[in-house]
Amino acid sequence: MSALETINFTRGVPAIESFPTAELAACATTVLAQSGDAILQYGPAAGLAPLRTWLAEWQGVKPEQILTGNGSLELVQFLCTAMIKPGDVVFTESPSYDRAINLFRRNGANVIGVPLQADGPDMDALEALLAQHKPKLFYVIPDFQNPSGATCSTAKRKRLVELAEQHDILLLEDAPYRLLRYRGTEEPTLFELAPHRVLHMTSFTKLIAPGVRLGFMKGDAAILAKIGKVAEDTYISPGYFAHGVTYEWLRAGNLGPQIAKLKALYAPRLEAILAALDKYIPDAVATRPDGGFFLSLTLPEGVSTTDLRAAAAERNMNLADGLAFFPQGGGERFLRLPFCAMTATQIEEGIKRLAECVKAVRK
Ligand SMILES: Cc1ncc(COP(=O)(O)O)c(C=O)c1O
Repeated sequence: MSALETINFTRGVPAIESFPTAELAACATTVLAQSGDAILQYGPAAGLAPLRTWLAEWQGVKPEQILTGNGSLELVQFLCTAMIKPGDVVFTESPSYDRAINLFRRNGANVIGVPLQADGPDMDALEALLAQHKPKLFYVIPDFQNPSGATCSTAKRKRLVELAEQHDILLLEDAPYRLLRYRGTEEPTLFELAPHRVLHMTSFTKLIAPGVRLGFMKGDAAILAKIGKVAEDTYISPGYFAHGVTYEWLRAGNLGPQIAKLKALYAPRLEAILAALDKYIPDAVATRPDGGFFLSLTLPEGVSTTDLRAAAAERNMNLADGLAFFPQGGGERFLRLPFCAMTATQIEEGIKRLAECVKAVRK
């Protein structure tokens, strides 16, 4: 690639070449022929019935413990409408997913950040915060976190559910990257550890494509019914057409092979970015994830993300603002690097340019 080509280290989008376009086209034809009336008509807000049943069987719960939505993020908004009143305290990890932080804030929540370490939330800090606040909800992304790439250890997961129990807190476990593990072994989900304390949420955005707009929450049927009522009052029913096509795709057994394909595509990209960082910016502290879409850097002393972004723009490279991920400040030297939608060559060139920027702005 040429030194002039634009490099985007900004958004965590899937690689276009991963989209199963032809399979989805075939599934659209099949499902329209077989169930056209059902997927073109209104129906229950909780989801297209056979899809809900498929998801419930896959997840080992009852269909009423599944609430589907148009992607997963909007379900967070419905949860806020159903449960969060202005002034309620919501904990998030710090850093956390900026769009979720924004949603909690827009609903009037007082968002408090629990410092995140390489192996999950800082438990001493969490206990200190729990002595001062009574959160309604703790929003956590335990696997290959957005934006840091951190994965919560089993020990911390266990402590987290214990504390949630003691302090009567609902945990919202957001797990869209969980199935994209390229190496290492799985940790238990928070839901597995304490099903009555946890709403587990996931999405097919990163497994199929954002355009299928299919996400779901799994958890307590009564809580989900409340959230589902908000969904019904908002859009009557979710996008049954896209959900019907996706159901057909899932029913036909495509998920396993698709995940294998994604791992084969993305694992070398993770290796490429780690190798390039070691080669070009060895003094930046990087998270070294075993999966997902992101890693993050703590830049060397004296290098701010804001200055780095300006220097990067001069070299045809776009970087994300680190500050938006921190609910209560911090993040001046934080840089999120998404690596899945870039080839190994683009990654190498991007990290080389990043090293030039670090050199240029270092004070
Ligand atoms: C942690 C996290 N949650 C939720 C979402 C939103 O996913 P969806 O497309 O299902 O709304 C994203 C997308 O980047 C994400 O990173």
